[in-house]
Amino acid sequence: MRIVLLGAPGAGKGTQCKYIIEKFGLLHLSSGDILRRHRSQGTELGKKAQSYMDSGALVPDNIIIDMMIDEIGKAPASGYVLDGFPRTEKQAQDLDKELNKKKQKIDAVINLQVNEEIIVRRITGRRICPKCAAVYHIENLKPKVEGKCDKDGSSLLQRPDDTAEVVKTRLKNYNELTAPLVDYYKQKNNVIDIDANEEAEDIRDLMFSKLAPLA
Ligand code: AP5
Ligand code: MG
Repeated sequence: MRIVLLGAPGAGKGTQCKYIIEKFGLLHLSSGDILRRHRSQGTELGKKAQSYMDSGALVPDNIIIDMMIDEIGKAPASGYVLDGFPRTEKQAQDLDKELNKKKQKIDAVINLQVNEEIIVRRITGRRICPKCAAVYHIENLKPKVEGKCDKDGSSLLQRPDDTAEVVKTRLKNYNELTAPLVDYYKQKNNVIDIDANEEAEDIRDLMFSKLAPLA
């Protein structure tokens, strides 16, 4: 199964992807997590991406497309969930070209819809593990020991782009460049709109009920 997850910054893409990969045995391909991994490893790609990410801008299409097509090429036959890619029309077109070459298609596009004031609360309260990329929230999803990752004990960090100021830019870019992809996909794919303002488990159950016929 090949799934694309669309949604604004902080909509809960990463959170819901964790549930999907556990249930359906898919690979989670988060363009943001892959970029942060490049940054922590100090690669050329990571250095190029850094200033765009920290200011809330999108990383240029050519960099992202090459990186993600490469990752998709390494995915197992069981399939994958794309989280944060594609994010522009050019990225979506190039992904389609790549899939067409392999005679493959996207089975479902999940569109997580969340109000902006909820988004800002989710993003400014998020903390991440720099080692394993696990995601926490200071109110909604607290670690067992304050400030430490449950899985490996690393000190949790706030992402540099998770400030109220940078969120504004990220939301603006989302609305201008990424939100139009919902219509792009509605013309040819199975788009599942999900009200994602609720509790994470309730969103998961709703999403699973809509994905069940495809599994
Ligand atoms: P990326 O890392 O993809 O960031 P994003 O799209 O802004 O999305 P987030 O990861 O912030 O949010 P999420 O939807 O995953 O929410 P989460 O589940 O963590 O990209 C970062 C940057 O990389 C971009 O700005 C850009 O520069 C670059 N980039 C990446 N891909 C690119 C591309 N394709 N093209 C160009 N540039 C690209 O949840 C958020 C918080 O809320 C967490 O704390 C979580 O615990 C909490 N939470 C989640 N769900 C709920 C719930 N239901 N109720 C309460 N709390 C919840
Ligand atoms: Mg994410």
